[in-house]
Amino acid sequence: MIADMILTGGIVVDDRSQTRADVAIKDGHILAVGAPEAMPDARERVDVTGLHLLPGAIDVHVHFREPGYTHKEDWQTGTDAAAMGGVTTVFEMPNTHPPTRSVVELRQKQELARKARVDFGLYGLMAEDNIGELEALAEAGANAFKCFMGNTFGNLPSPSTGAMLEGFEIAAKLGLRVSLHAETWSIMAWRQKRLEAAGIHHPLAHIAARPEIVAIEAVGRAAALAEWTGARIHVLHISSAGELVPLAEAKRRGVDITGETCPCYLMLDSSDYARLGSVIRVNPPVREARDSAAIWEALASGVVDMIATDHAPHTPEEKQRDNIWQADCGFPGVETQMPLMLTAVAEGRITLEQYVRMSAVAPARAFGLWPMKGRIAPGAHADIAAVDLTRRETIAAQNLHSRGKITPFEGVETTGAPVHTLVRGRFVQRDRKLVPNMAGHGRQVTDIQQMPAAAPRNTDQSLAAILGQKG
Ligand code: NCD
Ligand code: ZN
Repeated sequence: MIADMILTGGIVVDDRSQTRADVAIKDGHILAVGAPEAMPDARERVDVTGLHLLPGAIDVHVHFREPGYTHKEDWQTGTDAAAMGGVTTVFEMPNTHPPTRSVVELRQKQELARKARVDFGLYGLMAEDNIGELEALAEAGANAFKCFMGNTFGNLPSPSTGAMLEGFEIAAKLGLRVSLHAETWSIMAWRQKRLEAAGIHHPLAHIAARPEIVAIEAVGRAAALAEWTGARIHVLHISSAGELVPLAEAKRRGVDITGETCPCYLMLDSSDYARLGSVIRVNPPVREARDSAAIWEALASGVVDMIATDHAPHTPEEKQRDNIWQADCGFPGVETQMPLMLTAVAEGRITLEQYVRMSAVAPARAFGLWPMKGRIAPGAHADIAAVDLTRRETIAAQNLHSRGKITPFEGVETTGAPVHTLVRGRFVQRDRKLVPNMAGHGRQVTDIQQMPAAAPRNTDQSLAAILGQKG
């Protein structure tokens, strides 16, 4: 058999080891990994000597804003940024306008996402008023559900615990994971109202409105519902030491719960608010240095499973406001995650193998993309980030590919960057430049997603069972 391409001279990295090996690719898949003399013939050979070949990052938390907010981002700019960042698969969030709340909006988004440069999954919304749509959303190809326990950009009302329980009953049966914005709305709405009434509107008031109890309460409550129903859940953007406790406890009890954090919660803290002002505003807030320290530890030990970005671009006008309550929350991240985390590798905070575990292996497993994605091994998709661990760059808005470029990491010097990105065997980024005509190469991952068999619990007490008996 003749391969389409051989990447020769690189070092292949997985979550346990680094091996000097060539990689043969055919029809978008990995054909062989091994010594040069064991490689088949190939139409093309690409020398990657000096580079480390990582499974492309899988970022399960991006907001690409289309439809509805394309002045912030769209599917082309968002996936361009992903390709530049070594990210080969993204899962995109439903807080667009209209939100992805039923099959109509899912189909619309699938259409818009046809210009994607990298592969993608799509979240369906789980809210108070669309519980009846969840099965149809899954049927139409939603890859996971997103439940906003707290209000954030898009102002989607957070579901009551009652609606969430029914949502979890349905998700448990379907087997799809429910990703949670785990901040309890009633607590923070109350506190923000009190702060605003007192005329307090400096940047640090954002933390005061959302102290870690907001996340502790939400994670604990969601874990109880997941345990009861057998639903799989994922805690998005872990920001506090406090919420690690209910997360770790739930894992010990056998709840199917995973967690992610984002670079801002590891690399920024409350001492950065004076310098960055409203630019640092994000939900949940960047907290104290002791929170970052605890999250680093939990990430290294695996209590926090993965790194995502919560890529949430806005315009400079929307971000820079004197009154903190008027600044939009979030910032772009899909392009800067890998350079920032590789810098942490260069500094010895984590190993490269740990990074591969948290950026590719763990998300692939949690969201059913394993064994087709998340590894460089025969049979898998050839999704590869070829990284130069010594490459020095400085993060600057003008170089970012997102439409909403304003970032709290402006001016940060990084060591290590993806110099090529391949999605299913094709270069989408090469030598730090976008490859022309590759917009539209991205595909939805529905065909390869294989969630382990669902294990719903207490089904006899589910609303569906009880209402079904009635007639
Ligand atoms: C996100 C956004 O802008 O869509 N903002 C944020 O502060 N994280 C929404 C979210 O993930 O909460
Ligand atoms: Zn969120």
